[in-house]
Amino acid sequence: MQHHPALEVLIQRVSCAQLEAPAPAPEQLILIQKAALRAADHHQLRSWRFLVIEGGALKTLGNLFLQARLEVTPDLSPELLQRAQSLPLRAPMIVVAIANPVADPKVPELEQLLSAGATVQNMLNAAFALGVGAIWRTGDLASNPQVCRGLGLADSESIIGFLYLGTPKGALREAPALNCEDFFKTWP
Ligand SMILES: Cc1cc2nc3c(=O)[nH]c(=O)nc-3n(C[C@H](O)[C@H](O)[C@H](O)COP(=O)(O)O)c2cc1C
Repeated sequence: MQHHPALEVLIQRVSCAQLEAPAPAPEQLILIQKAALRAADHHQLRSWRFLVIEGGALKTLGNLFLQARLEVTPDLSPELLQRAQSLPLRAPMIVVAIANPVADPKVPELEQLLSAGATVQNMLNAAFALGVGAIWRTGDLASNPQVCRGLGLADSESIIGFLYLGTPKGALREAPALNCEDFFKTWP
């Protein structure tokens, strides 16, 4: 059956944890950003925003991670501190996806968070279509108050993901083959 090549991207997309320079080129990043902004969005509340971090700013983020770890565990081992500091250096670019839900009589907060999640999935799909490696990460530092403050989040905002972007190191793995029948049942 003939189908649009976009479907191949949706069906075959995989994450890529091993990333290296170069970061997405500016014209690639714009396409990834445009894809994010096409997330389904009840009442177009646009309850999301993003921070693009690259170059030396990744080190600044690493220092923020280090400080956040120290605040919680002042006697953390040098190895674990070093690990926290180097987390953002696993890619040449990170897009921090932030949900900023607002009070709305028709759109509950959960729906706004789902829309924010859809922005990240759209970016994953766009990155894959462009041959840009990407992985959505969170970890406990995503909800760490010091990290959130350091990145300038308001109290009502939350980090829903660190999208690591870069050039895949080596070949991407195959998408796992799941059986649709295991997840989709005819009702009733
Ligand atoms: C909200 C969210 C948070 C995630 N956080 C992490 C993470 O911190 N570390 C990680 O290795 N994978 C994390 N993942 C999983 C990866 O992004 C990825 O989806 C998973 O490795 C499966 O790979 P695939 O996307 O190729 O199927 C997260 C996924 C989601 C949806």
